[in-house]
Amino acid sequence: MTSRSKSLPLGIDVGGSGIKGAPVDLETGEFAAERVRIPTPEESTPEAVADVIAQIIDELDEVGPDAPVGITVPGVVTHGVVRSAANIDKRWLDRDADKLFTERLGRDVHVVNDADAAGVAEVRYGAARGKDGFVILTTLGTGIGIALIHDGVLIPNAELGHLELDGRDAETRASNGVREAKELSWEEWAERLQRYYSHLENLLWPDLFVVGGGVSKKSKKFLPLLDLRTPIIPATLLNSAGIVGAAALAADEAARRH
Ligand code: BGC
Repeated sequence: MTSRSKSLPLGIDVGGSGIKGAPVDLETGEFAAERVRIPTPEESTPEAVADVIAQIIDELDEVGPDAPVGITVPGVVTHGVVRSAANIDKRWLDRDADKLFTERLGRDVHVVNDADAAGVAEVRYGAARGKDGFVILTTLGTGIGIALIHDGVLIPNAELGHLELDGRDAETRASNGVREAKELSWEEWAERLQRYYSHLENLLWPDLFVVGGGVSKKSKKFLPLLDLRTPIIPATLLNSAGIVGAAALAADEAARRH
């Protein structure tokens, strides 16, 4: 790592299969050093995840002591405390992740929801860059994550992946995890997505939907099947969105504190 990258903010993305980290150049939204990835521990308790994050920071080498560190969690995070655990180890519930990571890492951290981080990254550097107005990022993964961003301002922790759809939690009908588990065809899945996105646009009237999550690489297979009044486009940052957004939000928080 160069001396310049030592003080750059670090983003750490805690995902279901891997925990990934890199320093981020906020001018470009690109990694300033090679990303380090370690598989998510099978028992992904808060302590086990904190250990892996510590290892990632060690491996990144020479992260300056004052470098802001942003960490994503796939659940609601208010004031550093994890408040929901739909698809993660239930031991995260009501855990003060900020305190745990700060103690384990010996440095200040900023913990944020994973979809919020991805949304901020797409608005600042990716698919929604330069688009004014109200952008909704949806991540279609094991669950459905949402980021609401109006004129660049994030309204955090919007849990609209859990909207009720046909009497059920929407993410248990329309996530990519469900598509895979039920072996739905693209057409079958698109019918569910149609119901979900119509519901969202009728409630919130966004200017743009951005679709993230690994499956957005295959967006040509399902986005053209949707009939919505809102433009809907694939995310462009893909794997890096969580890291980039976490780093950007941590830098914002550090600037706010000083
Ligand atoms: C959680 C959200 C998270 C999303 C994507 C949902 O089940 O409730 O907080 O952003 O999954 O990981």
